[in-house]
Amino acid sequence: MSSAAPVFTPALTPQEGARAASALFREAFDAEPDGVWCAPGRVNIIGEHTDYNGGLALPIALPHRAYLALRRREDRTVRLVSSLTPQSIDTLDLDVIGPKGTPGEVRHWNAYIAGVAWALERDGLGPLSGFDAALVSCVPLGGGLSSSAALESATAVALDDVDALGLAGPAEAPDDAGRARLVTSCVRAENEVAGAPTGGMDQSASLRCRAGHALELDCRTGEVEQVPFDLSAAGLALLVIDTKAEHSLVDGQYGARRAACEKAARMLGVDLLADIAPDDLETHLSRLAEPAGPTGHGEAEADADELVKRTRHVVTEIDRTRRLVALLRDSRPLAGPKLEEVGALMNASHDSLRDDYECSCPELDMAVAAARKAGAHGARMTGGGFGGSAIALVDADSADAVARAVVVAYAEADFTAPAFLNAIPSAPAGRLS
Ligand code: GLA
Repeated sequence: MSSAAPVFTPALTPQEGARAASALFREAFDAEPDGVWCAPGRVNIIGEHTDYNGGLALPIALPHRAYLALRRREDRTVRLVSSLTPQSIDTLDLDVIGPKGTPGEVRHWNAYIAGVAWALERDGLGPLSGFDAALVSCVPLGGGLSSSAALESATAVALDDVDALGLAGPAEAPDDAGRARLVTSCVRAENEVAGAPTGGMDQSASLRCRAGHALELDCRTGEVEQVPFDLSAAGLALLVIDTKAEHSLVDGQYGARRAACEKAARMLGVDLLADIAPDDLETHLSRLAEPAGPTGHGEAEADADELVKRTRHVVTEIDRTRRLVALLRDSRPLAGPKLEEVGALMNASHDSLRDDYECSCPELDMAVAAARKAGAHGARMTGGGFGGSAIALVDADSADAVARAVVVAYAEADFTAPAFLNAIPSAPAGRLS
């Protein structure tokens, strides 16, 4: 059977992004922007659904970014335009906007931009001035690559600059502590204004990653370490497979997983599931499996099996992340047995997300299976799941063949054709011009 060639989604260069966002700004507002700020989407190498459990994650920033041309206003009005609907300008008022479910609720993507201004003020960094902003983004929408966190982070660095908050520092010499504060407000915007109960890994990646590195993120303490991750020097590539399967974090599944983890932690008497040491896992799992639990929780009965599986995923995933970070840090080149071990950890992560966390889907499983069969060293879903994207660690010169194998498998299964991205560890959010 002949299938179409794989389609790669290119990243705009920073110059192209800045030019496009500025042109849109001029067209919409008939004025020059104060500047253009941009922020990346991300893929997570390992450490999935660990962030809201206080565990470890290991994301990289993508070259695919959101570009925001912005100009400060003297009043409290916010006007927003996007290249997707260039003829329509949305107008909001910083004194009126509020959380989802309140009269000031902010609709669709506007929530990720205006929501950040709202959250910065609630976090004691206001009052801010209003602004006009024009958005151009090459982070695929709904692809599980944090297109929304890219919007939030671009807004955060832009407002940090025009409102002189002094937190972000330039992308080349970032102020990491200041950026950690911006992350908090971006997460608040996403949780409260957009209404998605996500955990913060995406915003941390967009604001705190560095080019050529993966970000070891301790989600309990907020501490980060930069882990060198130069794939091309090792003759490797990280292929992103955007399954095009629908993915939404505002729907109930993500929240249900998070609620199950919180319930398991409560029943086990720990603050966060990350408090459970891998060696103690079995003991904890058998406590969850007891019908009424040692402390007499009747609620254990109904979904004991579910809580066991969710907890097992989280605790083993944190352990896998720790082990993968240790491998990347050792001085051996990323080849031979070391590469095999890295790949095996990625594979085990996917299998655990599929079987224990139950957040994969047929398209993700097929992308992963086809990539492994075509020679990927490791492959797994990345991000929240239920659709979105998978990643495959491949030899650089076989990326195309692996992508082709996925295209063929999708065509045979009658799935919508996937798209592909090359994930090069890139720079964090910052000002361009
Ligand atoms: C989404 C969320 C993150 C994280 C991942 C799963 O990307 O936004 O906070 O929970 O899912 O690791």
